[in-house]
Amino acid sequence: MTISLHTYQQAAIEIAVAAGKTLREELARPTEISYKGDFDLVTQADRRSEKLIVESLQKYFPDHAVAAEEGTIKDSEAEFRWHVDPLDGTTNFAHGYPCFCVSLALARKNELLLGVVYNPIYEELYTAARGEGATLNGKKISCSKISTLKNSLLCTGFPNHKRDANPNIHYYWDFTLKSHGVRRDGSAALDLACVAAGRFDGFWEFGLKPWDTAAGIVLVEEAGGTISDLDGNPYTLGGKSILASNGLIHPEMLETAAEIAARGNAPFVK
Ligand code: IPD
Ligand code: CA
Ligand code: CA
Repeated sequence: MTISLHTYQQAAIEIAVAAGKTLREELARPTEISYKGDFDLVTQADRRSEKLIVESLQKYFPDHAVAAEEGTIKDSEAEFRWHVDPLDGTTNFAHGYPCFCVSLALARKNELLLGVVYNPIYEELYTAARGEGATLNGKKISCSKISTLKNSLLCTGFPNHKRDANPNIHYYWDFTLKSHGVRRDGSAALDLACVAAGRFDGFWEFGLKPWDTAAGIVLVEEAGGTISDLDGNPYTLGGKSILASNGLIHPEMLETAAEIAARGNAPFVK
């Protein structure tokens, strides 16, 4: 039996919204924080959300592989694979800062087919399916039409591990001076969703994992934007850097990135 993309998308939406409800419930309770690294937090909310998502995916699609942030790796050889971030923005969540989301993406072999990002606090549901455009709460969204870096609003993020081996502070400096400003919201999936919705004109970061970016990539591409790495090469999931933009400012962002890299500041170490 062939299952349609629409069926997968509806299941992903249902699961993301249910996981978002558990995040809202957990936000109202005292947070139990433990550490995966010096600054890499994990809470009971990450684990509860992941359990709900993985159990639901297994129930609906028992043949599919699942790769989720908090440790679930199921059947790595399957044709279809779900990339799951049960809580993107854990540091924000742990401090009660309401900027976090659930992020789910489905890939067939190496092709990303659909992405769903849900912000349970604003109740904003971003969805995109390959070839079918991107939506926010059911309304079609598109990347912005800002055509110059100097008129753009950008976003970036900093990793939770090996911070001293990350060159991003140099990029943050330069891009801040060349644009309307650079936000640092603490949820890569929401950052990408905001590029898709035309709220940010560009986003970059080093060292993100597949579950951070997979859904956001489908959103940005289906909203008419461009994805590459900071050298201008095609981005591969889990690659060393990502650059997402409305497409129009992509060349200027790449030029700036090349200038910064040429200065030879602290190279990226994975
Ligand atoms: C983090 C967020 C953050 C980004 C970090 C990620 P997590 O994911 O997406 O914005 O800067 O690199 O690790 O740990 O909150 O799921
Ligand atoms: Ca994440
Ligand atoms: Ca996470």
